[in-house]
Amino acid sequence: MRKKLAAGNWKMNGLQENLHEIKLLSKYANTATCEVLICPPATLLQSMNAISSRIAVGGQTCHTETSGAHTGDISAQMLADSGATYVILGHSERRSDCNETDAVVRTKTKAAWAAGLTAIVCIGESLSEREASNTIDIIGGQLAASVPDKATGENLVIAYEPIWAIGTGLTPSLDQIGEVHDFIRARLERRFGAGVGRSVRILYGGSMNPKNATDIAQVSNVDGGLVGGASLKAADFSYIIKALG
Ligand code: PGA
Repeated sequence: MRKKLAAGNWKMNGLQENLHEIKLLSKYANTATCEVLICPPATLLQSMNAISSRIAVGGQTCHTETSGAHTGDISAQMLADSGATYVILGHSERRSDCNETDAVVRTKTKAAWAAGLTAIVCIGESLSEREASNTIDIIGGQLAASVPDKATGENLVIAYEPIWAIGTGLTPSLDQIGEVHDFIRARLERRFGAGVGRSVRILYGGSMNPKNATDIAQVSNVDGGLVGGASLKAADFSYIIKALG
């Protein structure tokens, strides 16, 4: 049985004054069936972690190295030192803003594992790729190239995030989500064996909100959500947690 994961991606949002949302969220968190995770900006990791033992915290990226002359960057070890247990890697905004290739994401995933973090590796097609019926090829390629060998159900989570659905209010149909999630599951089982392949959680991300979460949560092989905008307010995110759990 895979435990559901409700993961909030705060992106470049959040100041100390927003931490009260975490206090509010705490009473909905960590039910027996749904784990709750918030990935705030790195500046809030420590203080968020101190608020509630029922909400896990994670980073939004990490460097490939553990330390060194990389001004402005943060290593996986530093995230773990701040209380993080997860890190989002290869988000489409990092792939486009910072030229993160599949090879870079793969190296970062190894760095995350070396620091004991669970990597949430993001993959997803653009609108033109979907319109050209290339979605499955793109997803297969990203999955193969971004995920290193030695994945387990504990160190890896996959997030399927169609780029055109992120922050737009658009979502794929439930059939389209199911098709991609089933494909990812089959690929994971083929590469890592049935045991590991069945234990890795696959999240849906892209305009998930309190209205669509219940339907998306029922789709085959959807083990949770990676939620941006709707994770910023406890009032919204708590609905998504309930829908998943
Ligand atoms: P969104 O973002 O929920 O605001 O669309 C999701 C994400 O980018 O992880």
